[in-house]
Amino acid sequence: MDCLLIKGGYPLHGDVTISGAKNAVLPIMAATLLTGEPCVIRRVPNLSDVTFMGQILSSLGARVKFEGGVLEVCAARLNGVGDYDLIRKMRGSICILGPLLARLGKARVSLPGGCVIGSRPVDLHLKGLRSLGAKITIDGGYVVAKAPALTGADVFLGGRSGPTVLGTANVMMAATLAEGVTVIESAACEPEVTDLANFLNAMGARITGAGSPTITIVGVDELHGAEHEVIPDRIEAATFAIAAAATRGEIALHGARPEHFSAVLDKLREAGVKFERNGPVLTVKRGRSIKAVDVTTQPYAGFPTDAQAQMMVLLTRASGISIVTERIFESRFMHVSELARLGADIAIEGPNAIIKGGRPLSGAPIMASDLRASAALVIAGLVARGQTLVKRIYHLDRGYENIDEKLKKLGARIERVPET
Ligand code: EPU
Repeated sequence: MDCLLIKGGYPLHGDVTISGAKNAVLPIMAATLLTGEPCVIRRVPNLSDVTFMGQILSSLGARVKFEGGVLEVCAARLNGVGDYDLIRKMRGSICILGPLLARLGKARVSLPGGCVIGSRPVDLHLKGLRSLGAKITIDGGYVVAKAPALTGADVFLGGRSGPTVLGTANVMMAATLAEGVTVIESAACEPEVTDLANFLNAMGARITGAGSPTITIVGVDELHGAEHEVIPDRIEAATFAIAAAATRGEIALHGARPEHFSAVLDKLREAGVKFERNGPVLTVKRGRSIKAVDVTTQPYAGFPTDAQAQMMVLLTRASGISIVTERIFESRFMHVSELARLGADIAIEGPNAIIKGGRPLSGAPIMASDLRASAALVIAGLVARGQTLVKRIYHLDRGYENIDEKLKKLGARIERVPET
């Protein structure tokens, strides 16, 4: 198992190109199951989650080719049973349920378990698909869904913590081939949902309103092959912006869409970080000092939960006390105890993390627990004095394309080393 060995204290400087969005490409890959014709997806990041999803599509009978950021999928022949162990590995795989059901009238997909950031139920996915007429049972760890014909319906997808991103994707995909009109209320507004809707429309679907809380889908008889370029990863862009500020550096982000992470940019600005926009390039540089700010995670267009851990590292650099409130996932503070090993002063009270900024960080061996926590620990390692060894970085490889190479080009002293 690889680790990252980081020698901290060097500001990041230079240019970085943002990769395609993991959370856009995963449901888009699932959407290719809705047609027997070939689909071509561009700007696909080379991530282990993309590899897993490709393996899942292959296990369902699709032909999958991935080369140079271009993914070709042809699901001419399909079986409706997903490989239990492959699907269990990755929560994002639940979004094959809607497409399989719509295309084959049945699906058997293993139930994704909880994960370290929270319990992560799928009740809203199932509620939405049931509204379209699916009969769903849980049998031996599988979601077993049947619907000889799906029928359009009004579906409300708001839950305890707001809308559901993949639940919206699942129901929207199933509804493309349903008979009649589906209206999803309290739909997730994330840019990844809009990107999926754009791909589905390119396949011949009739979707309007994606990006707003009300999405209308007029069912069609069939979808056809299409080409699509995935949006840039707003969380990767936010991660590099935060890393620039935390290391007192200056990074030019190429290919990012600042409007997709304006809540992060707004908080960074409030904390004293400076930005310069030059056409498609956004340059991020630290101001004179970092100020304490309070951050609450929210559904889009609020501050994303996926950037919470990284932001917390920056706030350990601020003068004063910041409060970070996590409103989406109940246990997404796994990075806090690891940051404490580096000397951060953070207390957790319910959904709040109280950060007393300004304590010096010094390197230590630390352990990554999930994808975004790993990114936060890497930023902390770049800031800390001395050497930090980040273990279990397979989490990082799930969602950041070549992160160590990108950081190295920005001047970071970072090496991938085997765990001893
Ligand atoms: N929820 C329910 N019932 C459901 C589904 C969700 O109660 O049926 C709750 C969840 O427990 C959570 C909230 O609703 O409290 C939001 O969860 P959501 O369904 O939106 O999350 P998701 O779709 O499973 C995606 C991303 C996550 C990201 C969240 C929130 C993918 C593959 N995953 O998950 O990304 O944190 O939306 O924005 O798109 C990551 O990239 O590190 C990551 C975890």
